[in-house]
Amino acid sequence: MASDTISFARGAPSLDIVDVAGLREAASRAFEADPGGTTAYGTAVGYVPLREWIAEKHGVEPANVLVTNGSMQADAFLFDELVASGDAVVVERPTYDRTLLSLRARGADLHAVELDEGGIDTSALEALLDGGTRPTLAHIIPNFQNPAGHTLSGSRREHLLALAAEHDFTIFEDDPYIDIRFAGEPLPTMLSQDSGERVVYASSFSKTVCPGIRVGYLVGPAELIKAIAKRATSTYISPNMVAQSMVNQFCRSGAIDRSIDTVKGALRERVELLAGALERDLPEARFTPPQGGYFMWVQLPEGTDVAAMFDAAAERGVAFVKGTDFLLDGGENTLRLAFSGVTSDQIEEGVRRLADAYRATATVTA
Ligand SMILES: Cc1ncc(COP(=O)(O)O)c(C=O)c1O
Repeated sequence: MASDTISFARGAPSLDIVDVAGLREAASRAFEADPGGTTAYGTAVGYVPLREWIAEKHGVEPANVLVTNGSMQADAFLFDELVASGDAVVVERPTYDRTLLSLRARGADLHAVELDEGGIDTSALEALLDGGTRPTLAHIIPNFQNPAGHTLSGSRREHLLALAAEHDFTIFEDDPYIDIRFAGEPLPTMLSQDSGERVVYASSFSKTVCPGIRVGYLVGPAELIKAIAKRATSTYISPNMVAQSMVNQFCRSGAIDRSIDTVKGALRERVELLAGALERDLPEARFTPPQGGYFMWVQLPEGTDVAAMFDAAAERGVAFVKGTDFLLDGGENTLRLAFSGVTSDQIEEGVRRLADAYRATATVTA
């Protein structure tokens, strides 16, 4: 791998859009305002003032919220609580690779349902359910999906809620990108439209503050949260109070709103540059620029060997994630480009290298 590698692989913000000064101030205020709470073990439900801030944001009671070390930890607790080996679980096709690995490790019987520009195809899900599949859980990334960049439409959100009620399964609404919308109109969460405790919601400060802070959370029925809090106590006593106390200060001072504006502004510009560069240098690529989030999904002509292209790209100093990593099968002509970690001045050169890698391997495979 070349030393000046341009990475379209990492779903993380570049340093220039992380509010380092704001985080330093938040740390200082956390230790000044609440030295006891910040330095103690705390409890498994998370740092209490941050738990309250999150509850208010979502219009729920603090008893419905559990704050964790990143939302991956929230996902793991939820899967341990609800998914037994052999249980049917619905996932989107494609979906977040770590979710696939995590569910596979628990022995889940995975059913991947096709995703298009309007999100998961709920008619295909309905057909699966009518065919007798009885999932315990459906994992859904509703906004600016990882890896596809698509957003679940309002009508499909309603359809999904109706299907969950009729067929008695939990919707896991995994929503770390909701606040990174830089175009179009926001849609209500399924959590806010749920009248029957069908939805468990997760989100994160990784994409709005910084991933290194490792703060995420779950919102769900109080009984479930209580059961998961017990699991959390025996796992780590409590999550990281210093990090959560900092995030609490960052949120309550309004720094988070400025941080979100910075991230959105940068990503809007980056996705435009990325789309323009692909149109010019890799016209074989098919893609839909997303209205938010960190990722864009790219389809290349059938017959493309994405594994060979990945190696050729590494030799040329550009990285991406192979589409096959997000699928149970297929996807050899697809890849995910993250535009969050590249600065604007890297994008055109990165796409030139990508196009070169495509052409080098397309000749071999043609
Ligand atoms: C859909 C989805 N869920 C969960 C996570 C994990 O986030 P966290 O950093 O909060 O653990 C990610 C991170 O990329 C993600 O894309």
